[in-house]
Amino acid sequence: MTSTRLVPVETLHRIVEVASRAPSVHNTQPWRWHGGSHTLELYADRSRQLRETDPDGRNLTLSCGVALHHAQVAAGALGWETRVARHPDPDQPDLLAFLDLTPGTLPATAEETLTALDQRCTDRRRFTAWPVPEERQAHLARLANHWGARAVALTDESERFIAERLVRRAQQLQWADPAARAEQAAWQHRGTGDGLPVGSLPGPGDLAATHPHRFQGVWEERAEPDLEASDGLLVFFDTYDDAPSWLRAGEGLGAMWLAATTAGLALVPLSQVIEVPETRTAFQAEVLGSLAHPLLLVRVGWRSTARPLPARTPRRPVSEVLELD
Ligand SMILES: Cc1cc2nc3c(=O)[nH]c(=O)nc-3n(C[C@H](O)[C@H](O)[C@H](O)COP(=O)(O)O)c2cc1C
Repeated sequence: MTSTRLVPVETLHRIVEVASRAPSVHNTQPWRWHGGSHTLELYADRSRQLRETDPDGRNLTLSCGVALHHAQVAAGALGWETRVARHPDPDQPDLLAFLDLTPGTLPATAEETLTALDQRCTDRRRFTAWPVPEERQAHLARLANHWGARAVALTDESERFIAERLVRRAQQLQWADPAARAEQAAWQHRGTGDGLPVGSLPGPGDLAATHPHRFQGVWEERAEPDLEASDGLLVFFDTYDDAPSWLRAGEGLGAMWLAATTAGLALVPLSQVIEVPETRTAFQAEVLGSLAHPLLLVRVGWRSTARPLPARTPRRPVSEVLELD
């Protein structure tokens, strides 16, 4: 007996298309979806895991968590309610989530939401000098917390200095590691539906003086670490450094990034400091007082409205990531 299709194929296709706009480490898009008559299953795609810099799959699972957030928000904006079971089958650790879809109501803000999901991007250029008020940062952290993640703004100056120093140290260590460098290089300028094309990275005139990004190599060591007081720094953390925590952090990251985009803020993840064991351990001890595990650090700042958005990063076609019953 064939099951009756309760959710149109076009709807499942559209949800996955929007979810695929989620950010992912190096734009690896490490997800697969399976669509049933009224369900979607999200699987981790281990063939896209970064073996050198993400051997545990932390960034992979975080990336899938953002896609899970985007799928839920997209479904809502298309008039479908979702019930989600995370890690539903202990025998299938790569089955990260099971979504059950039922008809709901179309929200008035549907178009705006879908546009924001589509326009979100990683803008690594200089931020404007306007400070991001502490209350705004606390609001972003609360949004992530609302999705089950745990995030907090680093507002204490000494914590921020330590975090900045560790970000630099991580960048240096990774740059000195030929295997890590080769892995990162392999995800740039691929000319495929994934990775980072040239146009998505800022040119020399657009770079942040004090906060270069990971794709431009290591920067000059300075006697004093720089701290751009106007930037916001937020850290995702949790009691355990495990897959459920990473998935929740990803969902919270999706919520935070979407709200930041809508508010005109740029958000840039700084994952190297967590990827490198030495700096991750130091971050845990020196910034979080050994009370929790750091999962991801992000920087936020106001985008200059005078500049157009960076070129969009590509995505794999939906037909490659969605398999239907
Ligand atoms: C878990 C995670 C870690 C990331 N780490 C970094 C990072 O360390 N540095 C950086 O510049 N971008 C980082 N990114 C951003 C990705 O490179 C970006 O999302 C991807 O290239 C797709 O581009 P888009 O966000 O513009 O759609 C990260 C994204 C995720 C989800």
